[in-house]
Amino acid sequence: MACIELKQVSYRYPTSKTANLKEVNLTVESGEFIAVIGRNEAGKTTLCNVIRGFAPHFYQGKLSGSVHVNGKDVLRTEIGDLSWDVGYVFQNPFNQNSGVKATVYEEISYGLENLGIPRREIFDRVDEVINLLGIAYLADKHPMKLSGGQCQRVALASIIVMEPAILLIDEPTSQLDPKGTEDVFKIIDMLKKKGKTTILVEHKIDRVAEYADRVILMDEGRIVRDGPAAQILSDPALLEYGVTLPQTALLGLRLREEGLPLERIPITIDQAAVSIGALRKEGGGI
Ligand SMILES: Nc1ncnc2c1ncn2[C@@H]1O[C@H](COP(=O)(O)OP(=O)(O)OP(=O)(O)O)[C@@H](O)[C@H]1O
Ligand SMILES: [Mg+2]
Repeated sequence: MACIELKQVSYRYPTSKTANLKEVNLTVESGEFIAVIGRNEAGKTTLCNVIRGFAPHFYQGKLSGSVHVNGKDVLRTEIGDLSWDVGYVFQNPFNQNSGVKATVYEEISYGLENLGIPRREIFDRVDEVINLLGIAYLADKHPMKLSGGQCQRVALASIIVMEPAILLIDEPTSQLDPKGTEDVFKIIDMLKKKGKTTILVEHKIDRVAEYADRVILMDEGRIVRDGPAAQILSDPALLEYGVTLPQTALLGLRLREEGLPLERIPITIDQAAVSIGALRKEGGGI
């Protein structure tokens, strides 16, 4: 079932002279894990803003076309109503902070309190999420006294705990080291197994290649590519849009240039091992 449907959506922020999203068509099926890539200012955050109703409800500006989320017409639905369906993790994790809570534990509970969830259930859900994200040790810390990486995990926790069907996660690993980044991808992968739909804006292309099912490339407010990760991330044309290819794809393309008959361009290490192994079996020179 399609849980997000954008038809011919164009949008312009009030202070912008030109459109910031242009004729965007997008259908997302329930349970998909989609990565959105593209250079700075391509419109990735704006796309998230449209899906969660902030553009135009909060930012104002002009939107044409239609936006449906979980069957709701976003243009006719209040942001508060949509927040049941869509959780958004901010690009800058410090913006996620409510600023009214004295501990990380209370901060993560805050959204559930606002929904009037019984206390016992709040404790259970918060405990589960802080263990999942490996941040139980931060529970008593002040939310304003966290490092960038810690703050990013707390921001993610405060959304996951709400259990929205759709998660929009805007560059959640910018402050994280490789291990922290891998952890976040594993968490999203696990949420996918629980049936959540995730749209992840992310620059770390090797991790995207490893985990995402589908990749959307944006440029100048348009969706310029949309397809299976293996197809999109093995295309050298991506480089023209200011996006790098996975290391293994670059290696595969280079090997082909050297004349090795690689059947397909790998985008993950596992795929590279298979592709290169096949060459050896065929006596392709390795
Ligand atoms: N609140 C705003 N008001 C006016 N213009 C905006 C606003 N937010 C973004 N823009 C403009 O919209 C365009 C798309 O910006 P957006 O933030 O969606 O890009 P992005 O792909 O998320 O970039 P980044 O990788 O830097 O986060 C840019 O030209 C930007 O300057
Ligand atoms: Mg952005």
